Amino acid sequence: MLSLDLLNIPNHIAIIMDGNGRWAKAQGKDRLFGHASGVESVRDTLKAAKELGVKFLTLYAFSTENWSRPQMEIDGLMDLLINAITSELDSLDNNGVRLMTIGEIDGLPENCKQSMIQAIEKTKENTGITLVLALNYSARIEITKAVQSILLHEKPANEEDITPELISRHLFTKNIPDPELLIRTSGENRVSNFMLWQIAYTELHFTSVCWPDFRKDHLVVAIQDYQNRERRFGKTSEQIQ
Ligand code: IPE
Ligand code: IPE
Ligand code: MG
Repeated sequence: MLSLDLLNIPNHIAIIMDGNGRWAKAQGKDRLFGHASGVESVRDTLKAAKELGVKFLTLYAFSTENWSRPQMEIDGLMDLLINAITSELDSLDNNGVRLMTIGEIDGLPENCKQSMIQAIEKTKENTGITLVLALNYSARIEITKAVQSILLHEKPANEEDITPELISRHLFTKNIPDPELLIRTSGENRVSNFMLWQIAYTELHFTSVCWPDFRKDHLVVAIQDYQNRERRFGKTSEQIQ
């Protein structure tokens, strides 16, 4: 087992869960088999993150761009989401998991939206770990909607009233701290419209492991990689010693 500094665990880890389709195809299975297998990775990663003391785990589950996939895959993904949330809800609740979503959940099929709302309501008092599902999510839409919300609700009198802090307070993530670590699986080195505002100073970890194979050990490797980084935030190395 790799050694970890338990006093330097990221408070918030975000993951772009990628590679389900290619993982399934490599075994001659269809893409939905890959997505279904990815649910076990979610379970394992959530459990491991909680044990390690991570307070927020954000998982990119469905992007606005993913609506361009074949309808059969979209339907399969939505069914999987509903089934996973419904069957895991008691276990999530009993394990102190608070569920939240980011993204436009109004744009999800009604049954999917309702199962999310119910799960959010049931788990809202839990304090063990917050699981944030990014659903129908686009970072550019998030920022655009924040600007629209500021115009509508804050009615700024002067342009100086619009500050980064004000914009942050109008994002989907308004009550969620920025992630310290972003992981992307499956060997793709891009961020695909995910949390563009929030990852300004996030450490990025890319792994070739496809999401259905991702387990606690891979999470530990990512955290270890994070712990070996020097986070300078624009300063010199000497300044932060
Ligand atoms: C990630 O796996 C899951 C979603 C985007 C919903 P993919 O479905 O993107 O798998 P690949 O990248 O095609 O292998
Ligand atoms: C990003 O994966 C979205 C999710 C993981 C939900 P994609 O597979 O959709 O991203 P691209 O198209 O390869 O950039
Ligand atoms: Mg992909």
